[in-house]
Amino acid sequence: METAEEYWLARALLDWHVELGADESIGDSPVNRYDLAEPISAAARQPAASRAAPPPIPAAAPTVDAPAEARKAAEAASSLDELAAAMRDFDLCEVKKGARKFCFSDGNPAASVMIIGEAPGREEDLEGRPFVGRAGQMLDRMFAAIGLSRGSPDSQESVYITNVLPWRPPSNRTPDAAEIAMMVPFLERHVALVDPDVICLMGNTPLTAVLNETGITRLRGQWAEAYGKPVMPMLHPAYLLRQTAAKKQAWADLLAVKARLETKP
Ligand code: URA
Repeated sequence: METAEEYWLARALLDWHVELGADESIGDSPVNRYDLAEPISAAARQPAASRAAPPPIPAAAPTVDAPAEARKAAEAASSLDELAAAMRDFDLCEVKKGARKFCFSDGNPAASVMIIGEAPGREEDLEGRPFVGRAGQMLDRMFAAIGLSRGSPDSQESVYITNVLPWRPPSNRTPDAAEIAMMVPFLERHVALVDPDVICLMGNTPLTAVLNETGITRLRGQWAEAYGKPVMPMLHPAYLLRQTAAKKQAWADLLAVKARLETKP
């Protein structure tokens, strides 16, 4: 059995990894990467004079305009399946490399309400569906309170859910401006293909992506317009789980969405 000292040493090591940003283990047994280090190559050990001349430095790769590439790919998609395929194949977003699964959407594509969140978290990354963790359960409860669900086949009683990014950022960090900008063309096409009556933006990231604004606590509850649709900025359900007093504001915003749907021409 381990001694108390071994326990506290192991515990300190684990805390240190968590501080460095590790938030899950990906193997059953630890691997010492220093033991795996490549041996220094024979060429590198030779005296400099006898080494072959280094290869010429290649010219800098031409810079790629990621938002323009995304726009080309998005505009070529004429259905949700094609859009999902185009996004899945899009390799210019670095976040994709660290994600397990691609999370495109959930809910009824004919729904009158389209909900846009930030990006998948841990549970979503494991399952490949947006908003399935604690924040997702909160989101379901919020919209159920105004008679909407992701499971309903009735377009007037359902929601369709997506995120600005379809891949989980490392350690759930907020997507940066460049990542948001390169995914916006896909989002715009996504809205055009779903053609909802109302869009709900959950938190700051979709607020930036869709309305080019920040400050969700200031702008929540105020109707705006984007892509020819009425847009309601709302507090993110993960925020409501931490700040329960803000549920009152979320309820007011949900009632505003309900009223808008009821009076739609
Ligand atoms: N938070 C989001 O913004 N989206 C998800 O899919 C899950 C959590």
